[in-house]
Amino acid sequence: MANILVFDSGMGGWSVLEACRAHVPGQHWHYLCDNAALPYGTKPDAWLTERILAVVGTACAELRIELVIIACNTASTLALEALRARLSVPVIGTVPAIKPAAEQALGKPLALLATSATLSRRYTQTLIERFSSRSIVHPVNGDALVSEAESFMAGDAVSAYTLKAVLAPLQAIEDLHGVVLGCTHFPLLTPQLRLILGDHIIWYDSGAAIARRVEALLPPGPRSDAERVSVYATDAERSTVRAVCRRSGLGPPCALKLSEPCLMFFD
Ligand code: DGL
Repeated sequence: MANILVFDSGMGGWSVLEACRAHVPGQHWHYLCDNAALPYGTKPDAWLTERILAVVGTACAELRIELVIIACNTASTLALEALRARLSVPVIGTVPAIKPAAEQALGKPLALLATSATLSRRYTQTLIERFSSRSIVHPVNGDALVSEAESFMAGDAVSAYTLKAVLAPLQAIEDLHGVVLGCTHFPLLTPQLRLILGDHIIWYDSGAAIARRVEALLPPGPRSDAERVSVYATDAERSTVRAVCRRSGLGPPCALKLSEPCLMFFD
């Protein structure tokens, strides 16, 4: 049973955790959210890089982590290189699924729904330039969906008004093939998003590809069906993470105390 860290700013990484659990049984999954600093998508890059290194570094040292999954596009498109340089274990990142979407779109337009930070990153621009020469990729700011996905995970109502407002630019794109969900919070809302845009749109996320990568990095051999899921948060008192634990039949989240000094960000 390997100790695998799944990290996100909030509960979005749960979409990646579920894809991995379904594909790779018999592991000890350590889900960690930096919810004291949520959302990441509107924070400045330099601050965010230091914060991610401090939080993930602390968890790796304390939990004897053997494999890290950064289940957050906003963190991955910024800090993957720095994390790999700092940590001695393999680090899998989550980046927008532009490549598979462009392969299937056959030249039809695509939309990339992501946080404003992910949309602005050089990493994201390079993905589009390298893999989507035939399809135009329309960037769509989904910052407002992060808190909607958090509410949904807490068992609260989602605002149809907000979802419609965020998706409005997509409805103006003629012959749209599909939408790349470039934030791990958004696959949690796929049923609601589908209701607005209709069944003809294809939704691309990175969960299945990450699960395959995890499988490839684990040592071969028989795997037990027994698994464990432990949840940690930088603010373990928050109602969302507590509600997710309760609804998943898990014990309450543990507080992760940062071992490195790290300033909080106030906007
Ligand atoms: N779930 C994160 C992502 O994949 C970001 C949400 C946020 O904190 O803004 O980008």
